Amino acid sequence: MTEKISTYDYDVAVIGGGPAGYTAAEAAAKVGLSVVLFEKNQLGGTCLNEGCIPTKTLLYSAKLLDNIRSAGKYGIIVPTLPTSDLPKIIARKNKIVRKLQIGVKAKMERAGVHVIIGEAEIVDGCLVRCKDESYTTQNIIICTGSEVFIPNSIPGLCDVPYWTHRDALNCTEPPVSLTVIGGGVIGMEFAAFYHALGTNVTVIEMQDEILGGIDREIASQLRMEYAKRGIVFLLGTKVDSVSQSAGDINTHCTTADGSPVDVTSQRLLIAVGRRPVKPLVENVTQNMYLCGDVNGKSMLAHTAMREAELAVDHILNGSEEKINYHTIPAVVYTNPEVASVGLTEETASSGSRIIRIPMTYSGRFMVENEGANGLCKIIVNESDERILGVHVLGNPASEIIALAGMAIMQKMTIKEWKNVIFPHPTVGEIFHEALS
Ligand code: NAI
Repeated sequence: MTEKISTYDYDVAVIGGGPAGYTAAEAAAKVGLSVVLFEKNQLGGTCLNEGCIPTKTLLYSAKLLDNIRSAGKYGIIVPTLPTSDLPKIIARKNKIVRKLQIGVKAKMERAGVHVIIGEAEIVDGCLVRCKDESYTTQNIIICTGSEVFIPNSIPGLCDVPYWTHRDALNCTEPPVSLTVIGGGVIGMEFAAFYHALGTNVTVIEMQDEILGGIDREIASQLRMEYAKRGIVFLLGTKVDSVSQSAGDINTHCTTADGSPVDVTSQRLLIAVGRRPVKPLVENVTQNMYLCGDVNGKSMLAHTAMREAELAVDHILNGSEEKINYHTIPAVVYTNPEVASVGLTEETASSGSRIIRIPMTYSGRFMVENEGANGLCKIIVNESDERILGVHVLGNPASEIIALAGMAIMQKMTIKEWKNVIFPHPTVGEIFHEALS
């Protein structure tokens, strides 16, 4: 028998070291494949360095502030009003990011991944170039992520100083006022953060509701909660132009009823979406995989990780397993949180039934969320009673939504899900209550 001698340096080349990239690299290396990973900035990608982790660190401080402010409702006297120390919040965020960067680096080392810090260029399906070196490989997993989208359709935008999420993550003095263009996930999370710090926030959204893709009823309840607290929302509003005067930024808009409105604020945050960073590849060949934000399918870190695992499975044994994108949960880390998985009331067909109960049906929710109602919605297929969608407004929605994802993934019926024993008292019991 003649031994097959590989002429390739690597079995797998991974381009990009974010959640998709480091997951793919680790999974491939752990099963014995030789792996090289290229990262042009920092390991951890957008999620760790300027996305999920840093924003959640900031939002945790905001939540603490909210909780301290409402301590009186729980019988706790806080003698003076709490204030924030933004430089300290940012420093803590930086420390957490640094620690986790070290963690990802260690993970790559342990798995035996060859990490190269530099910008890689895909020459063809078998050749990658980086810093004048060439690397031959049998497979390429492209995990180049996404970047902020800055619209060129807003006149004046390029002449005013504006923030992207990057600036909003590193500001050390809360602005007096902030206009957020875009009421999506990024817009709402930063609106919530700066509002908690005392900034006057206005959110301008061109659609008739914030958080496109999230169940409308839940999105509108969250918006009404924040409107009650003082955030101003301009829905169905078109930004006509922006300009600067006396250090402030004026956002000139036309509201839903056609009236012109000018919003003046110290800072302007652009949060109108992200776009995939597609590497220049002449021909996408069979041995190339696009995982994570770069494929534009879901733009969530947890989706990216699963896509990466499946790409490695395909390389290893030709597995054709596909992701069911309907079973991927989405979370908005406002306070209260919103979490959602599966079909919404809007996307479900007419043969579905909507179960809707306040979160206060969970004793534990009542205990920990004085004065809040929250909402849990379950979308069920009328004919076979299978769970199709679950939507939660209320803390800790992010922690309980995986239960719902599992029910949808396993195609559970009402009866089957209800028979799962939930510990008491927990907020997750809300699902049991809703199905009873
Ligand atoms: P997005 O697509 O979620 O929201 C952008 C919003 O801007 C939309 O509501 C859109 O209608 C609005 N918009 C667009 N152009 C506008 C204009 N000219 N004037 C007013 N409104 C305008 O994008 P976002 O919030 O920037 O987030 C980007 C990606 O990052 C998303 O795919 C999201 O899933 C991901 N992400 C996820 C997070 C999470 O899972 N918690 C947190 C942050 C981001």
